[in-house]
Amino acid sequence: MKTLLTLPSVTRADAVPAPLRETGFVLLDGAVDWALVEEAYAAAQKLTDPVTEPHLPDDKEYWHFGRKRAEGSPFARLYAALESAALEILAACGTDAAIGADHKLRVCRYPKPEGDPVPYRAAPHTDITLLTLMPAATVSGLEIQSREGVWSSVEAKPGQLVVNSGEMLELLLGYRATPHRVVWEEPVERYSLPFFVQARSDVLLQSDLTAGAYLKQRLTQLRSTSK
Ligand SMILES: [Fe+2]
Repeated sequence: MKTLLTLPSVTRADAVPAPLRETGFVLLDGAVDWALVEEAYAAAQKLTDPVTEPHLPDDKEYWHFGRKRAEGSPFARLYAALESAALEILAACGTDAAIGADHKLRVCRYPKPEGDPVPYRAAPHTDITLLTLMPAATVSGLEIQSREGVWSSVEAKPGQLVVNSGEMLELLLGYRATPHRVVWEEPVERYSLPFFVQARSDVLLQSDLTAGAYLKQRLTQLRSTSK
């Protein structure tokens, strides 16, 4: 039976750290102008030539917008708004590690399934980021895993950002990188807009590990396991 978990919900960026440390996932209400998110979802439907990862047990396509690629695109204002919210949250966590880093807005499309869908729309994983900020997706399906190993679905409404702590924040400040996945709830196309907040590559996550080296190491690992 599906378990629905009600996430802690806050309305100020500086109120995020306490519940984030506790649960790894928090809803932040009203941090971005929702018209920007709606514009981005409309623009997402017109994108072509997605990246696909056929070797992963995922069923998604995506486009990445770093700062440069976002400039002048329909995603520029959303990138800026999400970056600003992320920097406020991280300042409240006590770190400036993301200032000046190049983040990624992922425009993610989960196609409508044909035939037998793969088990997950996105397989269980943790994000390599400091934080991930994700405006409410077009349909639900996100699930998170508790410290006890129980998977529960979580819901976000228009107006809300789902904030979750990633591996870099775990290494840097001890917040838990929270496992999550995306499952089928309805056999329809789904869009989401996760914003991956990175640390500057020279930031020391631990005494002998820079963020740049860690990112490279994890991406190599992912590529080798997805073959
Ligand atoms: Fe993720």
